Amino acid sequence: MFPSSRLAALAAASILAGCAAYTPAPSHTESAFVLIGENGQAIARVITAAQACPPLQVDGHLMPMRVRVPYSSIPARAGQVHTPPSSAVLTCEAPIPAGSFTAQVDGKRLPVPKAEPHRIVVIGDTGCRLKGKDFQDCNDPKSFPFSTVAASAAAFKPDLVIHVGDYHYREDPCPSDRPGCAGSPYGYGFDAWAADFFTPARTLLAAAPWVVARGNHENCTRAGQGWWRYLDPRPFETGRDCDKPENDATGDYSDPYAVPLGGGAQLIVFDTANTNWKGLPKTDVRRARYADTYRKVEALAKVAQYNIGVDHHPLFAFGANRDAQTGEITLFGGDKGLLDAFGDVDPGYFPRSVSMLLSGHVHLWEQTSFSTPHPTQFVAGFSGTAEDIVPLPASVAPGQTPAPGAIVETMSSWIDGFGFMTMERTGPDAWRVLVMDRDGKQRNSCTVKGRKSQCEVAQVK
Ligand SMILES: [Fe+2]
Repeated sequence: MFPSSRLAALAAASILAGCAAYTPAPSHTESAFVLIGENGQAIARVITAAQACPPLQVDGHLMPMRVRVPYSSIPARAGQVHTPPSSAVLTCEAPIPAGSFTAQVDGKRLPVPKAEPHRIVVIGDTGCRLKGKDFQDCNDPKSFPFSTVAASAAAFKPDLVIHVGDYHYREDPCPSDRPGCAGSPYGYGFDAWAADFFTPARTLLAAAPWVVARGNHENCTRAGQGWWRYLDPRPFETGRDCDKPENDATGDYSDPYAVPLGGGAQLIVFDTANTNWKGLPKTDVRRARYADTYRKVEALAKVAQYNIGVDHHPLFAFGANRDAQTGEITLFGGDKGLLDAFGDVDPGYFPRSVSMLLSGHVHLWEQTSFSTPHPTQFVAGFSGTAEDIVPLPASVAPGQTPAPGAIVETMSSWIDGFGFMTMERTGPDAWRVLVMDRDGKQRNSCTVKGRKSQCEVAQVK
């Protein structure tokens, strides 16, 4: 129906109903979005409360969507509770052919992929923390601003969104004396996923296709079941779904894949969900598993001139802790588990053919660049989850490094500020990076050339 005739129909309906508000036919779609997966394949994904998949309309042609996961609720693993008991949903998907102009499902327009995305948004660590002794006020958009960040990032009109992992944080029940999170669903069922991610992310999911990295919050013992059902772009496989602990050796890992950006550049997305920041002993099977990840990243990097790694855990960035007794601040470096595993293959820890690494996990924004041949690292774990508040220095003493052997040349950080990062390509190996606050106001600006970067402000206040 054309818009004008639809308006006329709406007006007639209002008159017939005595000017009561018009209620459109109920939609069962909980979320509809587009992921970019292996080799840049775009996939339309729909999560619906309906019993059957809706058709996907691409350039005016209807095509069926296949069932990714049948209508069901996520079964609770042993010892886990989902409250409310996980709502049943159906997950559907269909590829969107490259070069498509429009895509639509259930009356909603979907973003179509661009062969050469020029405007990229990077976000990470977006959920509302409900766990242990840490309870964020999920009901207060000032305390849990992901929906504001998502709307501001959507207003940037990106061609592509990169999420560097940790989507799901509502693990424990909100305590009765915390009205700020009262009523929140918790556990690993769809309701907690919807409250933490699909609902607040809605505007940004509608704005552009997404590349999604897997965080430690999405390993099998946490929200891995939802990760495989809803977000991972690759085929759903029984046994890799994190449903049964005996299959976690499969479900906790996946191989790296590349997403072409055009013009000789590509992203290499790798799964680090099950690493351990304390390190991995030689006897730990994860050490060999992540060494294999290194080799596969290196192999993928051979096909492009400019490679950008995308994962959850930074290897080349700092975090800071403050001693509760003395107030003394100490810095910690890159993920020790990955440094152990990657270091078994390469004393430099990362293929030299990868120039930049985008990560999250540490709840801040940060940039590092090195005089040694290590990639420039950006950390964008500042998009919704309660922030780290211990400041990072403007520079570090000689010898202080996030990864042994890497010599820090420049660094920049923003602590206790929520927002998103943008990347715009300015040359074959050059990027303009902006750091935006939750309202879309610019707080810092960086340039990337090859594997080096430099930012205007060392410590954003
Ligand atoms: Fe994390």
